[in-house]
Amino acid sequence: METRDQAIQVRGLEKSYKTLHVLRGVDFDVARGSIFALLGSNGAGKTTVVRILSTLLKADAGTASVAGFDVATQAAGVREVISLTGQFAAVDEILSGRENLVLVARLRHLKQPGRIADDLLERFSLSDAAARKVSTYSGGMRRRLDIAMSLIGNPPVIFLDEPTTGLDPEARIEVWEAVKELAARGTTVLLTTQYLDEAEQLADRIAILHKGRIIVNGTLAELKRLLPPAEVEYVEKQPSLEDVFLAIVGADK
Ligand SMILES: Nc1ncnc2c1ncn2[C@@H]1O[C@H](COP(=O)(O)OP(=O)(O)OP(=O)(O)O)[C@@H](O)[C@H]1O
Ligand SMILES: [Mg+2]
Repeated sequence: METRDQAIQVRGLEKSYKTLHVLRGVDFDVARGSIFALLGSNGAGKTTVVRILSTLLKADAGTASVAGFDVATQAAGVREVISLTGQFAAVDEILSGRENLVLVARLRHLKQPGRIADDLLERFSLSDAAARKVSTYSGGMRRRLDIAMSLIGNPPVIFLDEPTTGLDPEARIEVWEAVKELAARGTTVLLTTQYLDEAEQLADRIAILHKGRIIVNGTLAELKRLLPPAEVEYVEKQPSLEDVFLAIVGADK
C-alpha cells in the first residue's frame, strides 16, 4: 500500500527499560480509517508501543510516523492529530459527565463547548446520565465517557489502550459499539487488548505482540488460516482466535 494510505507506520521499533528489552524490532502499518488491534499478554509491551506512538516515550531505535508526522522529530504535529485514552480512565469523579466534556472542550479552546458536549453525550448514549456525577457511573459508562472525551476536537487517529479491561460483558459490548462508531466515521483506531475476542469483534487487522516482536499480523480470516487443519470431530467448530494464538505461540508462551 502507498505510504499516504497509512495512518500509522512503525519500523524496527526497539525499547528497553534498563536491562529489560521489551520491544525488539516492532513493525506494522495501520491503514487510514481502519481498526487495528495490538494483541498481547500482560507485559508484552502494548502500552510501551502506544506511549511511543503518542510521543510520551522515546524509542531506542527504529522509526514511527502518525499521519505522516515522525514521532521523534515532529512530536508537536503528532500530538495535533491524535488522542490517547489510557489504560486507566481519566475522568473527574466529582464533575458530571457533561461537565467533564465541557471542561475538555474549553481547555482545547473550542467554540460552543456545550454543544460539543451534548453531541458526544448523545453519540455515546450518555444523555440521560449527563447531569449525574461520574462517581455514580458504571464502569462501562465511565469508559464511554473517557472515549467521548478523547474525541473532542475530532482527532483523525485515536489510541485506545485496553479500552475494556475490567469491564463486565455488557459494558464491554457498549464500548465495542462506541469503537465501531468511531471507525464508521473514518477515524483510525489503534487499540490494545489482552482479549482475543475483542480483537476478533472489532479489528480489521490483528497483530500479536509476543516477546518483543509482532509474530502475526493479518485479518481475522488470515489468522484463522494459520491454524493446523481441524480434526474430524471438530469440523463444525469454527476455530477461535484463541486457537490461532495457541497454535502460533505454542508451548513457549
Ligand atoms: N517505566 C518502566 N520502567 C521499567 N519497566 C517498565 C516500565 N514500563 C513498563 N515496564 C515493563 O516493560 C514491560 C512491558 O510493559 P507494558 O506496560 O508496555 O506492557 P503491556 O503489554 O501494556 O502490559 P499490560 O497488558 O499489563 O498493560 C513490562 O514487563 C513492564 O513491567
Ligand atoms: Mg498496558
